[in-house]
Amino acid sequence: MRIFALGILLALGLPCASAAAQDAIAVKVDSSQPGAKIDRHIFGQFAEDLGRQLNGGIWVGRNSKIPNTRGIRKDVVAALRALHVPVVRWPGGCYADQYHWRDGVGPAKARKARVNAAWGDVVEPNTFGTDEFMDFASQIGADPYISINVGSGTVKEAADWLEYMTADKPTALAKERAANGHRAPYKVPYMGIGNESWDCGGLMTPAEYTTQLKLYGRFVNTFNKASPMQKIAVGPGSPDTEYTEAVMKTWKERRGWSWDINGMSLHSYTVFGGWPPHMVGTDFGEQEYAQVLKETLKMDGLLQQQSVVMDKYDPEKKISLVVDEWGAWLAATKGSNPAFLEQQNSQRDAILAALNLDIFARHADRVRMTNIAQMVNVLQAMIMTDGPKMVLTPTYYVFKMYVPFQDAQFLPVTFDAGTYSFGDVALSRVDAIAAKTKDGKIVVALTNIDPDRSANFNVSVPGIKSTVARGQVLAAPKIDSVNTFAAPNTVKPKDVTAVVKDGVLSIALAPASVTVLSFDR
Ligand code: AHR
Repeated sequence: MRIFALGILLALGLPCASAAAQDAIAVKVDSSQPGAKIDRHIFGQFAEDLGRQLNGGIWVGRNSKIPNTRGIRKDVVAALRALHVPVVRWPGGCYADQYHWRDGVGPAKARKARVNAAWGDVVEPNTFGTDEFMDFASQIGADPYISINVGSGTVKEAADWLEYMTADKPTALAKERAANGHRAPYKVPYMGIGNESWDCGGLMTPAEYTTQLKLYGRFVNTFNKASPMQKIAVGPGSPDTEYTEAVMKTWKERRGWSWDINGMSLHSYTVFGGWPPHMVGTDFGEQEYAQVLKETLKMDGLLQQQSVVMDKYDPEKKISLVVDEWGAWLAATKGSNPAFLEQQNSQRDAILAALNLDIFARHADRVRMTNIAQMVNVLQAMIMTDGPKMVLTPTYYVFKMYVPFQDAQFLPVTFDAGTYSFGDVALSRVDAIAAKTKDGKIVVALTNIDPDRSANFNVSVPGIKSTVARGQVLAAPKIDSVNTFAAPNTVKPKDVTAVVKDGVLSIALAPASVTVLSFDR
């Protein structure tokens, strides 16, 4: 890999404004043709009861020496608040279809310890249950997204859970909730009806699942009429459309009042070379970098494929496509329990996150929520912890830099992405998206995928009066750089300012970097 002098300038935080290079990539933003709103829920998260995510990563218990609020880590909450996490999905994943909510409510001493058969057969003490999850969601300011148990539960068990959480009248379960210290009903704005029902959720055929969907969709409801709830059906987990067809057709043919859904899920991990995941998280070369990023770009085709089927049954786009599991799934970190799905998180993963967020933004007319897998200590996590220590990953910083895109209006851009190739792998050299933020600013995200060459960009926004754009760049010493407890700041964004002249922002961007810039007004 070549050494990149410009990249070093940027990595040192030195602005490379007004590059105005002749060979620049011309990005034209069309603010006259705004597209769909980029729903803030596209930047959502997933916190399954898996490995060291809840126990240790989020929950340490009230008596822990690790600073906590009612048992929930203060450092993790503060870091997540800075991301404006819009929504958090819990308790799974595969675990959701084995979870029985009654094990996790009531006095701590009465909680029932069970085996987490989905993830390593470890004993789950159930001290972090419904009320603790609701507390966590509220502390980080996120909407709760509850996955109900379709695989090993019953319709009644799920309906009772919803009554416990949401009843606003003095029912038996509302009284039980109050006795547990929570008089006011919770809001449950999102409910998933099962998880991967074609696999760990019960190995159901599409027809078997849609039979369940009708029952759960009919009888499991929020009791809190002041707070609407969206129901999300299980959709596919690979580039096939069997589940999509079945769910959408069943929905289309339902009798109006009988039941409804608002979304259908899609799961798609970036796993280069097939299962089990063997791509390492650090100490890899450019070949692995290029292969993984090429693989992740398949997300675009997958969304197109699903959208075509959804459009057939739902041309008005009432049903959201909810990508409620996505991200890099790599080989487990050496020495960790393989069932805990712990992996390193490098600059490559930061680029991967940015590329996927760009794709979701382009599909914002149909994709209205996504949940990266996962939040703390699991898969492509935002945060890693080790006892009292905490480190923020490169992926964390991408989510932070993209906050201005939450609920912004998508603006079309045109540019010639060029090609980056390594060996027999060829993919786009750069990526770019633009949007108009809630407060009326134009924001752009520019990704230079090429790890060997810096990229000069000329971003033009006709009619814009700004003379400067400000933001941050996330570059790294190497494509496989990671943040560790010993060196937590190896990959960290730096502030950058760029000159805008006659409506054109000119900037040179480091190889393998992500930049987000807002134009001043
Ligand atoms: O995110 C880890 C697992 O991946 C989830 O539990 C499951 O839904 C998927 O297969």
